[in-house]
Amino acid sequence: MYIVFEGIDGAGKSTQIQMLKEWLENNGFRVETLVEPTDSEVGKLIRKILQRPDATTDTLQKTLGLLFAADRMLIMDELSEDSKIFISDRSFISSLAYQEPADWIEVLNKYAKKPDLLILLDLDVKKSVARTSGKDTFENEEFLTKVKANYLEISKNFQCEKIDANNGVNKVSSDIKKAVAPYLGICPDCIQ
Ligand code: TYD
Repeated sequence: MYIVFEGIDGAGKSTQIQMLKEWLENNGFRVETLVEPTDSEVGKLIRKILQRPDATTDTLQKTLGLLFAADRMLIMDELSEDSKIFISDRSFISSLAYQEPADWIEVLNKYAKKPDLLILLDLDVKKSVARTSGKDTFENEEFLTKVKANYLEISKNFQCEKIDANNGVNKVSSDIKKAVAPYLGICPDCIQ
């Protein structure tokens, strides 16, 4: 099973993935986590570009679209093992939400693995900006408002569980567990 976490910057993806991983392992599942951008050479180049002040220009957005697609192709083979649950921090759905145009991004990501389950951590844009303190150029209110709207639209095309990420860490974690449990045959009463 390939579970993908998506959401705007600061939504708490990495914390929640760790909490879900531990809980699934306690329930007897084998779990592997992945992060995009990866730590490949392409991923390193992406992180450099993300720090440039002009990263949101059309030219660099297109460049990033190409690089993100290449970066994720490099990990596609890792996802083929059937006996494990893979949980990924971002996926090609991030490219659809952040880069454009959508039809071109779809072509570039034609061979990217589609998620069995999308967990969309839905956070208010103002909270996102406050939490991230403008670490990189994508973390501004106007851009993130567009990305958030894109996510809500795109999520309709996938098996998606939308989680309110404005709540405290433990409440969000328990909401995620409740959402994931039915897909894995875990009894809902066993969730704290
Ligand atoms: P992020 O998960 O926020 O990394 P970090 O925790 O190091 O800040 O990802 C970095 C940025 O990359 C984030 O702003 C979203 C962006 N991004 C895209 O624009 N397109 C993509 O396809 C992916 C995977 C990420």
